[in-house]
Amino acid sequence: MAKIGLFYATDTGNTRKVAKIIKKQFDEGEVALHNVKDASAEDMAQYSALIFGTPTLGDGELPETLTEFLPALDGVDWASKTVALFGLGDQQGYPDEFVDALGIFYKKLKKKGATLIGSWAVDGYEFNKSKAVVNGEFVGLVLDQDNQADLTEERLEEWLEQVKPELLSLAVAG
Ligand SMILES: Cc1cc2nc3c(=O)[nH]c(=O)nc-3n(C[C@H](O)[C@H](O)[C@H](O)COP(=O)(O)O)c2cc1C
Repeated sequence: MAKIGLFYATDTGNTRKVAKIIKKQFDEGEVALHNVKDASAEDMAQYSALIFGTPTLGDGELPETLTEFLPALDGVDWASKTVALFGLGDQQGYPDEFVDALGIFYKKLKKKGATLIGSWAVDGYEFNKSKAVVNGEFVGLVLDQDNQADLTEERLEEWLEQVKPELLSLAVAG
């Protein structure tokens, strides 16, 4: 079984594309991808280490598929889980709601007792407001395929260097 479950929501496919790139940065079989549209609490429960990725849609909202998936979070013992988050957004189009969904989802998992890793500096982004900023940092990796796609590869590389060892060191849930 894969060591890490990577769960993602996507509307136009950008987040799925990033999820696939992340999977490729690990050894064969280490990461399993799950679109939240087809995932369950049991799918999450089998991992100790998880990655979640989401775009922000509407005006600073979770994608509909992720909202529909929220009840499944109740079926998981989050106290035994470590989670790294990434979020996609558009800082020019939505400077007042930039990657809000990342912050909204972070707060839900935090409240449920998960250990969250992978915070990310706000340097290099231009925006006014974001729910994903906590204590001056983004709560996960932030990618902007609409305006800064050229930076995605190096941002991913740097972030994975940070979270990969910790995620891989976690034993498979028993
Ligand atoms: C209708 C719509 C609403 C959006 N609202 C926001 C928003 O509030 N904040 C933000 O940062 N990005 C917003 N975005 C930008 C998306 O998050 C961004 O394009 C992302 O890469 C889409 O990922 P996906 O292809 O996986 O759905 C919006 C995009 C669309 C099409």
